[in-house]
Amino acid sequence: MKDIKILAVESSCDETAAAVIENGRKVLSNVIYSQIDLHTLYGGVVPEIASRKHIEKINPVIEQALSDAGVGLKELDAVAVTYGPGLVGPLLVGVSAAKSLAYAAGLPLIGVHHIEGHVSANFLEHPDLEPPFLCLIVSGGHTHLVIMKDYGEYEILGRTHDDAAGEAYDKVARAIGLGYPGGPKIDKVAKEGDPKAIAFPRAKVDDCPYDFSFSGLKSAVLNYLNQAEMKGEEINRNDVAASFQAAVVDVLVDKTMHAAKEYGFKKVALAGGVASNSALRAGMKAACEKRGLEMIYPSPIYCTDNAAMIGAAAYYEFLKGNFSGLDLNAIPNLRLGERK
Ligand code: KG4
Ligand code: ZN
Repeated sequence: MKDIKILAVESSCDETAAAVIENGRKVLSNVIYSQIDLHTLYGGVVPEIASRKHIEKINPVIEQALSDAGVGLKELDAVAVTYGPGLVGPLLVGVSAAKSLAYAAGLPLIGVHHIEGHVSANFLEHPDLEPPFLCLIVSGGHTHLVIMKDYGEYEILGRTHDDAAGEAYDKVARAIGLGYPGGPKIDKVAKEGDPKAIAFPRAKVDDCPYDFSFSGLKSAVLNYLNQAEMKGEEINRNDVAASFQAAVVDVLVDKTMHAAKEYGFKKVALAGGVASNSALRAGMKAACEKRGLEMIYPSPIYCTDNAAMIGAAAYYEFLKGNFSGLDLNAIPNLRLGERK
Protein backbone atom coordinates (compact mmCIF):
# COMPACT_ATOMS: atom_id res chain seq x y z
CA MET A 1 0.00 0.00 0.00
CA LYS A 2 1.16 3.52 -0.74
CA ASP A 3 2.37 5.69 2.15
CA ILE A 4 -0.35 7.98 3.50
CA LYS A 5 0.70 11.53 4.34
CA ILE A 6 -1.63 13.67 6.41
CA LEU A 7 -1.27 17.36 7.16
CA ALA A 8 -2.67 17.95 10.67
CA VAL A 9 -3.66 21.23 12.30
CA GLU A 10 -4.24 21.95 16.03
CA SER A 11 -5.40 25.25 17.54
CA SER A 12 -7.77 24.32 20.38
CA CYS A 13 -6.09 26.39 23.10
CA ASP A 14 -2.88 28.42 23.08
CA GLU A 15 -0.65 26.47 20.68
CA THR A 16 -0.84 27.06 16.93
CA ALA A 17 0.46 23.79 15.50
CA ALA A 18 0.78 21.90 12.23
CA ALA A 19 2.49 18.62 11.36
CA VAL A 20 2.89 16.14 8.51
CA ILE A 21 2.52 12.51 9.58
CA GLU A 22 3.18 9.41 7.48
CA ASN A 23 1.09 6.29 8.07
CA GLY A 24 -0.08 7.59 11.45
CA ARG A 25 3.27 6.94 13.13
CA LYS A 26 6.15 8.72 11.42
CA VAL A 27 6.58 12.43 12.13
CA LEU A 28 7.83 14.17 8.96
CA SER A 29 7.45 17.60 10.58
CA ASN A 30 6.05 19.04 13.81
CA VAL A 31 5.76 22.82 14.12
CA ILE A 32 4.41 24.40 17.31
CA TYR A 33 4.01 28.11 17.90
CA SER A 34 3.36 28.48 21.63
CA GLN A 35 1.52 31.56 22.83
CA ILE A 36 2.49 30.96 26.47
CA ASP A 37 4.53 34.18 26.79
CA LEU A 38 1.57 36.21 25.56
CA HIS A 39 -0.81 34.77 28.16
CA THR A 40 1.66 34.70 31.09
CA LEU A 41 0.97 38.41 31.50
CA TYR A 42 -2.68 37.60 32.39
CA GLY A 43 -2.03 34.46 34.47
CA GLY A 44 -3.90 32.19 32.05
CA VAL A 45 -5.19 31.83 28.49
CA VAL A 46 -7.30 34.79 27.29
CA PRO A 47 -9.53 33.28 24.56
CA GLU A 48 -9.91 36.43 22.44
CA ILE A 49 -6.16 37.10 22.43
CA ALA A 50 -5.51 33.43 21.60
CA SER A 51 -7.91 33.57 18.61
CA ARG A 52 -6.23 36.66 17.20
CA LYS A 53 -2.77 35.14 17.53
CA HIS A 54 -3.94 31.90 15.88
CA ILE A 55 -5.20 33.91 12.89
CA GLU A 56 -1.80 35.58 12.58
CA LYS A 57 0.20 32.37 12.92
CA ILE A 58 -1.86 29.61 11.32
CA ASN A 59 -0.72 30.06 7.70
CA PRO A 60 3.01 30.49 8.46
CA VAL A 61 2.90 27.46 10.79
CA ILE A 62 1.22 25.29 8.11
CA GLU A 63 3.70 26.47 5.47
CA GLN A 64 6.59 25.67 7.81
CA ALA A 65 5.22 22.17 8.48
CA LEU A 66 4.97 21.44 4.74
CA SER A 67 8.42 22.86 4.06
CA ASP A 68 10.09 21.01 7.00
CA ALA A 69 8.54 17.76 5.73
CA GLY A 70 9.59 18.53 2.16
CA VAL A 71 6.04 17.76 1.08
CA GLY A 72 3.86 19.74 -1.33
CA LEU A 73 0.05 19.92 -1.18
CA LYS A 74 -0.14 17.51 -4.14
CA GLU A 75 1.68 14.80 -2.19
CA LEU A 76 -0.78 14.91 0.71
CA ASP A 77 -3.59 12.39 1.11
CA ALA A 78 -5.75 14.31 3.61
CA VAL A 79 -6.00 17.34 5.89
CA ALA A 80 -6.88 16.71 9.54
CA VAL A 81 -7.90 19.22 12.19
CA THR A 82 -8.95 19.34 15.83
CA TYR A 83 -12.61 20.43 15.93
CA GLY A 84 -13.23 20.02 19.68
CA PRO A 85 -13.18 20.13 22.60
CA GLY A 86 -11.48 23.46 23.27
CA LEU A 87 -12.00 27.21 23.05
CA VAL A 88 -14.46 28.04 20.29
CA GLY A 89 -12.57 31.00 18.76
CA PRO A 90 -9.20 29.23 18.62
CA LEU A 91 -10.83 26.02 17.28
CA LEU A 92 -12.60 27.96 14.52
CA VAL A 93 -9.30 29.33 13.22
CA GLY A 94 -7.83 25.84 12.72
CA VAL A 95 -11.06 24.39 11.34
CA SER A 96 -11.45 27.24 8.82
CA ALA A 97 -7.82 26.98 7.69
CA ALA A 98 -8.03 23.19 7.28
CA LYS A 99 -11.33 23.36 5.41
CA SER A 100 -10.03 26.01 3.00
CA LEU A 101 -6.90 24.01 2.33
CA ALA A 102 -8.78 20.74 1.82
CA TYR A 103 -11.23 22.43 -0.55
CA ALA A 104 -8.54 24.26 -2.53
CA ALA A 105 -6.31 21.18 -2.86
CA GLY A 106 -9.19 18.73 -3.42
CA LEU A 107 -8.20 16.66 -0.38
CA PRO A 108 -10.42 14.80 2.09
CA LEU A 109 -10.94 16.48 5.47
CA ILE A 110 -10.77 14.61 8.79
CA GLY A 111 -12.11 16.20 12.00
CA VAL A 112 -10.26 14.89 15.07
CA HIS A 113 -11.25 14.88 18.74
CA HIS A 114 -8.52 16.63 20.76
CA ILE A 115 -8.40 13.94 23.46
CA GLU A 116 -8.19 11.14 20.87
CA GLY A 117 -5.19 13.07 19.61
CA HIS A 118 -3.57 13.10 23.07
CA VAL A 119 -4.05 9.31 23.43
CA SER A 120 -2.71 8.75 19.88
CA ALA A 121 0.48 10.67 20.73
CA ASN A 122 1.59 7.32 22.18
CA PHE A 123 1.70 5.78 18.67
CA LEU A 124 4.31 8.27 17.42
CA GLU A 125 7.24 6.73 19.30
CA HIS A 126 5.94 3.21 19.88
CA PRO A 127 5.62 1.64 16.44
CA ASP A 128 4.39 -1.68 17.85
CA LEU A 129 1.74 -0.24 20.17
CA GLU A 130 -1.79 -1.38 19.29
CA PRO A 131 -5.06 -1.04 21.21
CA PRO A 132 -6.50 -2.22 23.53
CA PHE A 133 -4.76 -0.48 26.42
CA LEU A 134 -5.61 1.62 29.44
CA CYS A 135 -4.83 5.35 29.18
CA LEU A 136 -4.73 8.11 31.77
CA ILE A 137 -5.24 11.50 30.09
CA VAL A 138 -4.16 14.42 32.26
CA SER A 139 -4.09 17.88 30.72
CA GLY A 140 -4.99 21.47 31.48
CA GLY A 141 -8.60 20.92 30.46
CA HIS A 142 -9.17 17.18 31.01
CA THR A 143 -8.62 14.30 33.38
CA HIS A 144 -9.93 11.00 32.01
CA LEU A 145 -9.20 7.35 32.65
CA VAL A 146 -10.15 5.48 29.47
CA ILE A 147 -9.83 2.15 27.72
CA MET A 148 -8.77 2.55 24.11
CA LYS A 149 -10.60 -0.54 22.84
CA ASP A 150 -9.71 -0.10 19.20
CA TYR A 151 -8.73 2.77 16.90
CA GLY A 152 -11.37 5.47 17.42
CA GLU A 153 -13.19 3.42 20.11
CA TYR A 154 -13.04 4.48 23.73
CA GLU A 155 -14.70 3.50 26.97
CA ILE A 156 -14.53 6.19 29.65
CA LEU A 157 -13.99 4.65 33.09
CA GLY A 158 -13.63 7.92 34.99
CA ARG A 159 -13.35 11.67 34.67
CA THR A 160 -12.91 14.67 36.91
CA HIS A 161 -15.95 16.15 38.64
CA ASP A 162 -14.38 19.61 38.86
CA ASP A 163 -10.87 20.86 38.07
CA ALA A 164 -8.61 19.02 35.65
CA ALA A 165 -5.24 17.88 37.04
CA GLY A 166 -3.33 20.51 35.01
CA GLU A 167 -5.79 23.19 36.08
CA ALA A 168 -5.11 22.33 39.75
CA TYR A 169 -1.35 22.60 39.08
CA ASP A 170 -1.86 25.98 37.42
CA LYS A 171 -4.07 27.34 40.25
CA VAL A 172 -1.78 26.15 43.05
CA ALA A 173 1.26 27.53 41.21
CA ARG A 174 -0.44 30.91 41.00
CA ALA A 175 -1.26 30.80 44.74
CA ILE A 176 2.37 30.17 45.66
CA GLY A 177 3.59 32.85 43.27
CA LEU A 178 5.08 30.69 40.54
CA GLY A 179 3.06 32.09 37.63
CA TYR A 180 1.62 30.51 34.47
CA PRO A 181 1.82 27.76 33.28
CA GLY A 182 2.17 26.24 36.71
CA GLY A 183 2.69 22.57 35.92
CA PRO A 184 6.31 22.67 34.81
CA LYS A 185 7.15 25.22 37.55
CA ILE A 186 5.68 23.09 40.35
CA ASP A 187 7.43 20.06 38.87
CA LYS A 188 10.76 21.94 39.16
CA VAL A 189 10.48 23.44 42.66
CA ALA A 190 8.92 20.25 44.08
CA LYS A 191 12.25 18.50 43.47
CA GLU A 192 13.69 20.67 46.26
CA GLY A 193 10.75 20.07 48.63
CA ASP A 194 9.55 17.34 51.00
CA PRO A 195 6.45 15.54 49.63
CA LYS A 196 5.56 14.42 53.19
CA ALA A 197 5.86 17.88 54.77
CA ILE A 198 2.11 18.68 54.60
CA ALA A 199 -0.65 16.03 54.60
CA PHE A 200 -2.99 17.30 51.84
CA PRO A 201 -6.16 15.24 51.20
CA ARG A 202 -6.39 12.41 48.63
CA ALA A 203 -9.93 12.89 47.35
CA LYS A 204 -12.32 10.01 46.77
CA VAL A 205 -15.53 10.36 44.78
CA ASP A 206 -18.31 8.33 46.40
CA ASP A 207 -19.67 5.49 44.25
CA CYS A 208 -17.41 6.42 41.31
CA PRO A 209 -14.12 4.59 41.94
CA TYR A 210 -12.46 5.95 38.80
CA ASP A 211 -13.66 9.54 38.95
CA PHE A 212 -11.42 12.36 40.13
CA SER A 213 -11.87 15.57 42.10
CA PHE A 214 -9.14 18.15 42.56
CA SER A 215 -11.01 21.20 43.81
CA GLY A 216 -10.90 20.01 47.46
CA LEU A 217 -7.15 19.60 47.25
CA LYS A 218 -6.79 23.05 45.70
CA SER A 219 -8.89 24.54 48.55
CA ALA A 220 -6.80 22.66 51.13
CA VAL A 221 -3.65 24.24 49.71
CA LEU A 222 -5.27 27.72 49.73
CA ASN A 223 -6.45 27.22 53.35
CA TYR A 224 -3.00 26.12 54.38
CA LEU A 225 -1.46 29.24 52.79
CA ASN A 226 -4.08 31.56 54.38
CA GLN A 227 -3.65 30.06 57.83
CA ALA A 228 0.12 30.27 57.65
CA GLU A 229 -0.18 33.90 56.60
CA MET A 230 -2.57 34.72 59.46
CA LYS A 231 -0.23 33.12 61.98
CA GLY A 232 2.69 34.99 60.44
CA GLU A 233 4.45 31.71 59.66
CA GLU A 234 6.87 31.50 56.81
CA ILE A 235 5.78 29.27 53.92
CA ASN A 236 8.17 26.79 52.40
CA ARG A 237 7.09 26.99 48.77
CA ASN A 238 9.03 23.91 47.75
CA ASP A 239 7.37 21.80 50.47
CA VAL A 240 3.89 23.05 49.50
CA ALA A 241 4.58 22.21 45.82
CA ALA A 242 6.02 18.78 46.64
CA SER A 243 3.18 17.89 49.07
CA PHE A 244 0.48 19.07 46.62
CA GLN A 245 2.11 17.13 43.80
CA ALA A 246 2.34 13.98 45.93
CA ALA A 247 -1.41 14.18 46.61
CA VAL A 248 -2.20 14.50 42.88
CA VAL A 249 0.18 11.72 41.84
CA ASP A 250 -1.02 9.31 44.56
CA VAL A 251 -4.62 9.56 43.37
CA LEU A 252 -3.75 9.29 39.67
CA VAL A 253 -1.50 6.27 40.16
CA ASP A 254 -3.85 4.56 42.60
CA LYS A 255 -6.92 4.73 40.36
CA THR A 256 -4.99 3.74 37.26
CA MET A 257 -3.56 0.67 39.02
CA HIS A 258 -7.00 -0.34 40.30
CA ALA A 259 -8.44 -0.11 36.80
CA ALA A 260 -5.53 -2.06 35.29
CA LYS A 261 -6.19 -4.84 37.79
CA GLU A 262 -9.97 -4.86 37.46
CA TYR A 263 -9.94 -4.85 33.64
CA GLY A 264 -6.85 -7.05 33.30
CA PHE A 265 -4.66 -4.64 31.33
CA LYS A 266 -0.94 -5.24 31.01
CA LYS A 267 -0.29 -1.95 29.16
CA VAL A 268 -0.81 1.46 30.74
CA ALA A 269 -0.36 4.66 28.74
CA LEU A 270 -0.16 8.32 29.80
CA ALA A 271 -1.23 11.33 27.75
CA GLY A 272 -1.72 15.10 28.00
CA GLY A 273 0.42 17.95 29.33
CA VAL A 274 0.65 16.62 32.90
CA ALA A 275 1.95 13.28 31.51
CA SER A 276 5.35 14.96 31.26
CA ASN A 277 5.37 15.57 35.03
CA SER A 278 8.44 13.87 36.48
CA ALA A 279 6.78 12.77 39.75
CA LEU A 280 3.80 11.26 37.89
CA ARG A 281 6.11 9.39 35.53
CA ALA A 282 8.25 8.11 38.40
CA GLY A 283 5.24 7.14 40.54
CA MET A 284 3.47 5.37 37.68
CA LYS A 285 6.68 3.64 36.60
CA ALA A 286 7.32 2.26 40.08
CA ALA A 287 3.70 1.07 40.40
CA CYS A 288 3.79 -0.58 36.95
CA GLU A 289 7.12 -2.31 37.63
CA LYS A 290 5.79 -3.68 40.91
CA ARG A 291 2.85 -5.28 39.07
CA GLY A 292 4.71 -6.34 35.92
CA LEU A 293 2.84 -3.85 33.72
CA GLU A 294 4.25 -2.08 30.69
CA MET A 295 4.14 1.71 30.92
CA ILE A 296 4.00 3.84 27.77
CA TYR A 297 4.25 7.62 27.56
CA PRO A 298 5.06 10.21 24.89
CA SER A 299 8.09 12.53 24.93
CA PRO A 300 7.24 15.89 26.55
CA ILE A 301 6.90 17.59 23.13
CA TYR A 302 4.07 15.15 22.24
CA CYS A 303 2.43 15.42 25.71
CA THR A 304 1.49 19.09 25.51
CA ASP A 305 -0.65 20.29 22.61
CA ASN A 306 0.77 19.52 19.17
CA ALA A 307 -0.51 18.58 15.73
CA ALA A 308 1.53 15.37 15.29
CA MET A 309 -0.84 13.60 17.69
CA ILE A 310 -3.82 14.83 15.61
CA GLY A 311 -2.23 13.34 12.46
CA ALA A 312 -1.72 10.03 14.28
CA ALA A 313 -5.40 9.81 15.28
CA ALA A 314 -6.54 10.98 11.82
CA TYR A 315 -4.72 8.16 10.02
CA TYR A 316 -7.01 5.50 11.50
CA GLU A 317 -10.09 7.51 10.50
CA PHE A 318 -8.58 7.76 7.00
CA LEU A 319 -8.27 3.96 6.83
CA LYS A 320 -11.93 3.62 7.82
CA GLY A 321 -12.99 6.25 5.27
CA ASN A 322 -14.38 8.45 8.07
CA PHE A 323 -14.18 11.82 6.36
CA SER A 324 -15.79 15.09 7.42
CA GLY A 325 -17.84 17.40 5.21
CA LEU A 326 -16.94 21.00 4.53
CA ASP A 327 -19.71 21.87 6.99
CA LEU A 328 -17.42 20.67 9.82
CA ASN A 329 -17.79 23.11 12.72
CA ALA A 330 -15.90 23.77 15.95
CA ILE A 331 -17.57 21.96 18.88
CA PRO A 332 -16.20 23.39 22.17
CA ASN A 333 -17.70 20.62 24.36
CA LEU A 334 -17.31 17.64 22.00
CA ARG A 335 -17.52 14.38 23.94
CA LEU A 336 -15.03 11.55 23.62
CA GLY A 337 -16.21 8.87 21.21
CA GLU A 338 -18.75 11.23 19.61
CA ARG A 339 -18.13 11.94 15.91
CA LYS A 340 -19.69 14.57 13.68
O1 KG4 B 1 -2.28 18.98 27.06
P1 KG4 B 1 -2.05 20.42 27.32
O2 KG4 B 1 -0.97 21.12 26.53
O3 KG4 B 1 -3.34 21.28 27.10
C1 KG4 B 1 -4.66 20.84 27.26
O4 KG4 B 1 -5.16 20.12 26.38
O5 KG4 B 1 -5.24 21.21 28.30
O6 KG4 B 1 -1.77 20.55 28.89
C2 KG4 B 1 -1.39 21.76 29.48
C3 KG4 B 1 -1.33 21.52 30.98
C4 KG4 B 1 -1.12 22.79 31.79
O7 KG4 B 1 -2.07 22.81 32.83
C5 KG4 B 1 0.29 22.65 32.32
O8 KG4 B 1 0.49 23.29 33.57
C6 KG4 B 1 0.40 21.14 32.45
O9 KG4 B 1 -0.24 20.64 31.30
N1 KG4 B 1 1.81 20.67 32.46
C7 KG4 B 1 2.39 20.07 33.51
C8 KG4 B 1 3.74 19.83 33.16
N2 KG4 B 1 3.93 20.28 31.88
C9 KG4 B 1 2.72 20.79 31.46
N3 KG4 B 1 1.89 19.73 34.72
C10 KG4 B 1 2.72 19.15 35.60
N4 KG4 B 1 4.01 18.91 35.34
C11 KG4 B 1 4.58 19.22 34.14
N5 KG4 B 1 5.86 18.96 33.92
ZN1 ZN C 1 -4.48 19.23 25.03
